[in-house]
Amino acid sequence: MNATIEWEDDLLLGHLGVDRMHEEFVEVARAVQAAGDAELVERYAALLDHLRRHFESEDRMMVETEFPPRQCHMDEHAAVLKSALEVEAELANGNVALCRDLMGELVGWFPRHSQHLDSALVHWVNKSRLGGKPVIIKRNISSLSRDDGAGIPGNGG
Ligand SMILES: [Fe+2]
Ligand SMILES: [Fe+2]
Repeated sequence: MNATIEWEDDLLLGHLGVDRMHEEFVEVARAVQAAGDAELVERYAALLDHLRRHFESEDRMMVETEFPPRQCHMDEHAAVLKSALEVEAELANGNVALCRDLMGELVGWFPRHSQHLDSALVHWVNKSRLGGKPVIIKRNISSLSRDDGAGIPGNGG
C-alpha cells in the first residue's frame, strides 16, 4: 500500500507563494493517486507541469536572494524531476505500477523536503525581507470546537 498525503496546516511554512505552491502540490498529487488507470497519463502530466513550476519558482527565489546553501536544494529538485520524467516515459509504455510506486515515494518525500529544505529557504527569504522569522498562524481545529467560549470572537462561540 503506497503512502498518501493530505493538506494540513502543519505543512505551512509562512511564505504565501511557497505555501500556495505546496497546497497545489498536495492537490495535484492526490488527483494522480486517485486516478483510475485511464486517467493516469493525463493527471501525471499535470503533476509534471506542477513540479516544473514549483521547482523553478524556488530555484529562482534561491538565486535571486543568494541563498548560500542553494546547490543541495536545487540538486534535490533536479533529481526528483529526473526520476519523475523517467517514470513518465515508462508510463507511456503502460507501466502503471511504476507510476503508482513513484507517487507513494513522492508524497513521502514531500513533507521531509518541505520541513528541511523549503523551510530553511523561507526563513532566509523572510529574514532578508522582514528581518525576522515568519509568524505562522495555524488553525487549531480542536480548540475551535470546544464549547467553552474559547473559539474565534464573533464566530458564534
Ligand atoms: Fe517546495
Ligand atoms: Fe524545494
